[in-house]
Amino acid sequence: MSATRGLEGIVATSSSVSSIIDDVLTYQGYNIDDLAENASFEEVIFLLWNGRLPKKSELDELTKDLADNMEVPDEVLQYMKAYKTSEVHPMAALRTAVSQLGLYDDEADEMTEEANKQKAVRLQAKIPAIVTGFSRIRDGKEPVAPKDTLSFAANFLYMLNGEEPDETSVTAFNKALVLHADHELNASTFTARVCVATLSDIYSGVTSAIGALKGPLHGGANERVMAMLSDIGDTDRVDDYIQKMFDNKEKIMGFGHRVYKNGDPRAKHLRDMSRRLTEITGESKWYDMSLKIEDIVTKEKGLLPNVDFYSASVYHSLGIDHDLFTPIFATSRVSGWLAHILEQYADNRLIRPRAEYVGPDKQEYIPVEKR
Ligand SMILES: CC(C)(COP(=O)(O)OP(=O)(O)OC[C@H]1O[C@@H](n2cnc3c(N)ncnc32)[C@H](O)[C@@H]1OP(=O)(O)O)[C@@H](O)C(=O)NCCC(=O)NCCS
Repeated sequence: MSATRGLEGIVATSSSVSSIIDDVLTYQGYNIDDLAENASFEEVIFLLWNGRLPKKSELDELTKDLADNMEVPDEVLQYMKAYKTSEVHPMAALRTAVSQLGLYDDEADEMTEEANKQKAVRLQAKIPAIVTGFSRIRDGKEPVAPKDTLSFAANFLYMLNGEEPDETSVTAFNKALVLHADHELNASTFTARVCVATLSDIYSGVTSAIGALKGPLHGGANERVMAMLSDIGDTDRVDDYIQKMFDNKEKIMGFGHRVYKNGDPRAKHLRDMSRRLTEITGESKWYDMSLKIEDIVTKEKGLLPNVDFYSASVYHSLGIDHDLFTPIFATSRVSGWLAHILEQYADNRLIRPRAEYVGPDKQEYIPVEKR
């Protein structure tokens, strides 16, 4: 029995939620390129959860349901106010708050399909309010209640800033949400499926997934890309900076992928958004630096940008704090986690692989006083 490091290439489940085949990403059979150009995030949520695009009345109903469920229990907000917010990363705050949400949901352990679908709506709706609420609380402001006239993307920006966003920002943010919604059996989705395959509840599944997304090799990469860009500061410094990272054998955040061999199909959309948005803000240097880094890393190492590389300058251009980038990833990806959780419950079997034992053999117990 020999192990495959990092489960590379192992097919661990079957799923109809999304696929990566020959470097093409689809959600329920719809090419991500098509969805990124045309779909609202609400449509994508419906698609991931139901396997088909919604009719107009179904879309209206889901949109209303999400807006109606956005408010976060006051107990959770009060708890956030008690944190030493300056020392708490928003991903840690989100992970804790989502776990707490389960305490205030009477149906938390109700395992019928209907109850789980209702909880999925609640979780999807409340996560943006938690992320934006935490951001405001740490800035000494009160959380802003959502408006039921706004789309999911617009509501996020509204709850974050307290004023209605312009059309360009909403379009860009909606597209970013669509692009991050699901991604086959990525680390956080696998985590969620492993958790709920024990028949644990949906809040536990999403809490575990947030923990996995937080890591720098997964969703945490986008914040670190922005830290790198800020540290470089100017296009002229890119060459030396990246060369030094190569010399120190450091990983360049936002590059490489376990599955894609010829590039992440989401990156081109984010690159294009980064170019347009940085032009609008008059800060093209973020895009120029990113482009130069891409050129060097691709030429020198043969590595291509992934979803996290250009999303950094996109979110920065939307005026979003850098440590909120990964929570925004979670705000979108929870739609995929929930789709996979519902799929797992519908045809469940405990996920319990084996380990190749490489420890010592035939050890003899020696009493502590004789060791
Ligand atoms: C995404 C990632 C975790 C995939 O990991 P993986 O499939 O286990 O690939 P490995 O880490 O084993 O990388 C294979 C080789 O490429 C190198 N490599 C991979 N990504 C790299 C990067 N971003 N910068 C520099 N080198 C990289 C590794 O050092 C390794 O080289 P080696 O064989 O000489 O040791 C990895 O590419 C990475 O760490 N990227 C940066 C973090 C990131 O952007 N994460 C978001 C993913 S969407």
